This record gives sequence, C-alpha cells and structure tokens, in this order.
Amino acid sequence: MLQKVKETVDYIESHVDFKPEVGMILGSGLGRLAEEIEVRHVLPYKDIPHFPVSTVEGHCGRLIFGVLSGKNVVAMQGRFHYYEGYAMTEVTFPVRVLKFLGIKMLFVSNAAGGMNPSFRVGDIMAISDHINLMPNPLIGKHYPEFGPRFVDMSEAYDKKFLKMAQRIADRLSINLQMGVYVGTTGPTYETPHEYNYMQCIGGDAVGMSTVPEVIIARQMGIPVFAISVITDLGGKNIAFEVSHEEVLNAASVAEPKMSAIVKALLEEIQL
Ligand code: HPA
Repeated sequence: MLQKVKETVDYIESHVDFKPEVGMILGSGLGRLAEEIEVRHVLPYKDIPHFPVSTVEGHCGRLIFGVLSGKNVVAMQGRFHYYEGYAMTEVTFPVRVLKFLGIKMLFVSNAAGGMNPSFRVGDIMAISDHINLMPNPLIGKHYPEFGPRFVDMSEAYDKKFLKMAQRIADRLSINLQMGVYVGTTGPTYETPHEYNYMQCIGGDAVGMSTVPEVIIARQMGIPVFAISVITDLGGKNIAFEVSHEEVLNAASVAEPKMSAIVKALLEEIQL
C-alpha cells in the first residue's frame, strides 16, 4: 500500500505544480463549494493511478486543486463509499495520498439523517464526535510510515475548529448545530427503531461516510473539521420515507450555509 500511495503521489506531483495545505472531501449534493475554488488544476479520478472511480449519483469524481479563501486546497469532488463495494483501504486511499501531498487540515462534508428531535431538514451540524458502526479501516497490516497501530481518538474532530466555526456561525447568523455522527455501512437508510437506537447510544445524526476517512486522517495526525447537512429526520415515531433524490435536494438547498462557514474558517485559520 505504501508503494501504491507513493506512485499515486508521484503521478500527481508530476502533473500538478501546486502544494495543497487543506484537503476537502465533499459529500452527496455538496460539491458546489468546489465551484468557488480558483481552479489551478483538475485531475479526473479515472486518470489517477490506483484511485477508485466513484459510482454513486451526485458525485462527479475528480480532484480539484486551487485557491479558496486564500488557502491552497485540494478538493475531492466525489468520495468512495464502503457500500459501493470498495474495501476500506480503497475508501480511505485518497486521504493517505492527500497527506503525502502535504495537507495540514482536512474538511469533510456529508449528507446525514437527523435523530436529534431539535434538528430540522436543512440544518447543518458541525461534527463534534462520532460513533463508528462500520468496519474499522485500520484493520489489517500496519504500516508504521502512516502512523501508530493504535490510534488515539479522544479528539477526532479538532476542538479549535469547532470553536471557530461556532463563532463564525454566530457572526453570520447561521444556526449551526453541533453533534455526534453515527457512521453506518448503508446502503439502507434506517428503520424507525434503528434511528431510535442510534439516538439512544448518543448519536445526533447518521450517515454512510466520513468516519473511515476521519480515522485515517487521525492516524496520520491531520486535524479534521466536518459538517453534516441534515437531509431527513428519523426516529421511533417518525416513519417518513427517505429517498436519495430528497437527500440530494435537501443537501443542495442547505449547502450555501455550509459553504459560508467553511470559507470563513479557511480565511481565519493559520496552518
Ligand atoms: N441515514 C443514513 N445515511 C443518510 C441518511 C440517513 O437517514 N440521510 C442521508 N444519508
């Protein structure tokens, strides 16, 4: 795997003369932020050696290099999900590549279902912690070059970024929720009692991504900021149907709030 990461990094560095400081993974229906990047280079995933190609609707599958809010960023427009059939090593491979390209911070976005009764569709939630109900992406051979075998997760989501995001949201009069993201494999949405269970164990929102990438980022010492866009609500007494189209719609409606916070955060942070 180390060899593969090196080959991919070599390919990218030989095609792109640009040093990213921030990595961004943009989730379902949330790729529009990438349109605000002053683009310097674009690499379709299909041209990048060892990169999987994303299959799900709403993901266009390319790496975008450019400047956003004065920071050099590399954005993954489209990510790889475990439910698509990729191994966890494939799902998280791009994060390893981004680390070796030099990123010092990772931003992740996703669409999620809300269990917290105070949430509404279209809310945005900064992720303060997660509960992993997927296979751990670090299971398997350990490569010391990537970081420790046993990874500390006491501050998976950087507290400094969370504080800054709250301050920015207050300043911009955006209602920013904070909460715990439960990561599941999908691809089913939850039954009413599964949503209830996830709330009982401490979750505020649930989705099918993010956790694997965050675990890998933490192993490699990259601080993370992540936002969920609440696209549907679930619970024991809530039996609304959820569809992928609705999720994509709700995500794109709420996206400007998320984008405003992320752009202001990028402006403020010193890396
Ligand atoms: N559950 C799981 N994943 C999701 C949901 C949900 O309700 N909404 C968007 N992604």
